Amino acid sequence: MTFENILSELHEGILQITINRPSKLNALNKETISELHEAFADAREDNDVKVIILTGSGEKAFVAGADISEFSDFSTEEGGELAAQGQAKLFDYVANFPKPVIAAVNGFALGGGLELAMAAHFRIASDNAKMGLPEVSLGLIPGYGGTQRLPQLVGKGRAMEMIMTAGMIDATQALQYNLVNHVCPQDELLDFAEKLANKIMKNSLVAISAAIKAVNANFEDGVNGFEIEIEEFGRSFGTEDFKEGTSAFLNKRKADFPGE
Ligand code: COA
Repeated sequence: MTFENILSELHEGILQITINRPSKLNALNKETISELHEAFADAREDNDVKVIILTGSGEKAFVAGADISEFSDFSTEEGGELAAQGQAKLFDYVANFPKPVIAAVNGFALGGGLELAMAAHFRIASDNAKMGLPEVSLGLIPGYGGTQRLPQLVGKGRAMEMIMTAGMIDATQALQYNLVNHVCPQDELLDFAEKLANKIMKNSLVAISAAIKAVNANFEDGVNGFEIEIEEFGRSFGTEDFKEGTSAFLNKRKADFPGE
């Protein structure tokens, strides 16, 4: 599959998806969102893909937001449709993706860019990264999940301040806020992400998939996360990975998970 706006490269189980519109600071236009959806949908079916690293092209930006030039003349209905489609196609799709998704934030992550990073399962950032939700400076509010995911990650007060001021925080502050898990120099960011991906891949990806579902259940309306956990825990006992994991432990050897 060839894409116009993203690059996708698979290496030893790790799929790196790079948003590639550096002249527009990787802003998310409609086409890029569709291509990202397709790349994730392909990755879902591809057994060779174990972990996904999502990053931006160039040294300046992860993603500087939704492409403002595309929606400046939208009506109320078109605006609502833009958010609904984007959330379904990309942001919720990534958040509920059954394989681990790590966002490697390599510069500006603003508006839709920060929302995409927040939809990933966790984030690491380069020391030059800058993050914010500047939508109110455009007369908008975040529409790709930002009003929901930012308070979940940083707490309500900090999220309110970030959204109301439309300001940016740097990588150090993002780390203090728990918005990112780690910060490292820019030229080490992808290696660092790969190290984490390799560590993840040593474990049962079937179990990880179930864990993603159970953790996400905590944030779903009307869903009892504890019940989902019990269900997924029980289901784990029926997997080949469980048999391998426990027998490897009891036989004092390293597990070699079949991924079933
Ligand atoms: N949508 C569309 N184009 C964007 C964009 C966005 N969200 N963010 C950046 N670009 C484009 C710029 O228009 C410019 O294009 P041009 O060279 O054709 O004029 C190019 O990317 C480079 O951006 P520029 O503004 O010149 O870089 P800068 O270093 O001076 O400033 C930012 C960087 C990130 C501070 C600035 O680009 C910015 O504020 N972007 C918008 C952020 C935003 O509000 N995002 C939320 C959208 S809902």
